[in-house]
Parts: sequence; C-alpha cells; structure tokens
Amino acid sequence: MRSEAIHAALKAATWAPSVHNSQPWTFAVAGEEICVRADADRKLRVGDHAGREMLIGCGAALFNIRTVLRDRGWAPVTRILPDPDRPNLLATVRPGEAVTPDETTRLLSGEIERRRTHRAGFTTLPVPDKLIEALVRQAAAENVKLVPAGDEAALRMLAAVTQAAQGARPQDPEVRRWARPPDSPRKDGVPADSYPREPADTGFPQRDYAWGTETDQSMAATGVVAIMTTRGDSREEWIATGQALQRVLLYACAYGVSAAFHTQALELPHLREFLREELCSGAYPQMIMRLGFTFDVSRSVRRVRRPLSEVLD
Ligand SMILES: Cc1cc2nc3c(=O)[nH]c(=O)nc-3n(C[C@H](O)[C@H](O)[C@H](O)COP(=O)(O)O)c2cc1C
Repeated sequence: MRSEAIHAALKAATWAPSVHNSQPWTFAVAGEEICVRADADRKLRVGDHAGREMLIGCGAALFNIRTVLRDRGWAPVTRILPDPDRPNLLATVRPGEAVTPDETTRLLSGEIERRRTHRAGFTTLPVPDKLIEALVRQAAAENVKLVPAGDEAALRMLAAVTQAAQGARPQDPEVRRWARPPDSPRKDGVPADSYPREPADTGFPQRDYAWGTETDQSMAATGVVAIMTTRGDSREEWIATGQALQRVLLYACAYGVSAAFHTQALELPHLREFLREELCSGAYPQMIMRLGFTFDVSRSVRRVRRPLSEVLD
C-alpha cells in the first residue's frame, strides 16, 4: 500500500543525522506527495548562518524517505527545491511506479534505525580498502566526492585545523545549547551517554558537549579520515551532500563500520576556505569524518528523536 509506504518513509526520515541532533526539519503530506521542509528556527545562528549544515541534515532525511519508498516497492519521484518562492521547501517526493527493490536498497533501509554517530576512538582493525572504494562510489552516486585523506601530511593538516577550530570556540554556546543533560526529557540535542566524558586521543578533538559518560578507553585508533566535497557550494549541493552522507553512513553501517564527525572547522569561514584551497583542490569541503570499527558499544547508545507527530504538519 502506498499510504503505508509513505508513513514508513516519514518515520524513517526522523532517524536522519543532523548537526547536534537539532532535527531541523518538518514534513507535510499532500495527496501522495511528501514535502521536506527546513525548520529555520532550529538552525545554528552563528555556526551555520547560511543554513548549510541544516540542509545537509534535511538531505539525509530525504535520502531515508527515498530509500524506504523504494524498499517498499515504489520508485521515488523526487524534485529538489521545486518552488523558488518557498525556499524552505527543500524537496517533494512521491511514490511512483512499482519496482522490485534491489539488494543495496534493502541493505541500506535495514540500517536506518541501527546507525548512530560514534564519538570515540576506533579499534585497530583496518577498514578494508575495498569497502572505502565502495563508500566512494556510494557518495558519487549522489554527485558528491568522498575523499579519504591520502597521506600523513594531509592527515596532520586536517587534525591541526580541527584542533584550531576547537581551540577558537572551546565552549561554544551553540554546542552547549544542544547538549542534552543526563535524564533530560528533551527529544532533541546530543544525549550525555552518546560521547565519552574523557575524549579519546585520536588527534581529532571532540566537540565539548559538557557531560559525557564513562566509557571503554581501550579504543584509541583514529580510523580512516575522509572529507566530503562538492564542486560548488549551492543549496542543491548541500542537500546532495546530506543524501550522499546518509548513503555512505548506512552502507558503512551494513558492513560494521561506524562514523565519527569533526565539522568544527567547517563552521569557521577562513578555516573552511583554507581547507578548500590546501586539501580539496578548490572543491568545497562539506563534512569531515573518521570511519572505523568499534567494540559495538555504540550500538547500545540511546538515540533521541522528536516523534513523527511533532514534525508532521
Ligand atoms: C552537518 C552535520 C554536522 C555534524 N557535526 C558533528 C560534529 O562536529 N561532532 C559530532 O560529534 N557529531 C556531529 N554530527 C553528528 C550529529 O551530532 C548526530 O547526527 C546527531 O546527534 C544525531 O545522532 P545520531 O547520528 O546518532 O542519530 C554532525 C551531523 C551533521 C548532519
């Protein structure tokens, strides 16, 4: 049934990642058309003035909708930024013709509720090159580049820039605003049990979400560091980045690989520009992540989301 597929797709949308779990989206259904809208009240006013990160989160939600519709047997028909007079209407999606879902769609769809952000070191088990190559292809399918940091020098530069960004805004009030205190009834923000109290020494500083929890410190490997880039820096490309991000994360999750993010530097225009010129050959850096294997502790981390009734008009 198309209506059941639409409902399942909307529920899946809410499991998308978003900066500080701000969940900057609302959805509406008109007939069989799902509208994905940005909720600008949830944008980071300082760190994300242009709404780039907000649109990446919404793009990830859009990818979940597309994936679940296809998994339920309907080819999604998607229009990106369909109405120039309504800039917050980011996309419309409707179930089109009947299809048999392919294996990758089934795989990705099955990971939507299991995936979660990792915020510590990784085990020393290396991520196979073949898997990294597959992740690069997943991103490319959404017109976004996933670029693993090639050599030691690139890795050191990226770590140094991330440290500089964290040093420039150590107790960022916007980060603190979205840090969810232990036992809080809030349905958004970063839960205190989703990051270690003592950050792991991976070379890439963690955002300071203030609380944290006692965790196994035996994982200290950095993992594979990668940047997502786009050729330009348009709103379409931010939405594409979100779709590519979610595609990469779900695919990685299906093979047991988790991702940690370190996007502080991309919120400071001069540091982002530096990375664009020095590391990205002029392409625009959109996400910075580490990929690796964990001891499965992250699977037990609770995730919080606003219920669908709160985000569906
Ligand atoms: C654009 C964007 C930027 C993010 N930046 C960071 C970051 O710098 N540090 C971090 O720990 N998590 C970062 N995250 C992950 C979010 O905090 C995470 O998706 C959110 O808390 C929801 O948790 P979940 O991914 O486990 O569902 C980012 C996510 C997005 C979409």
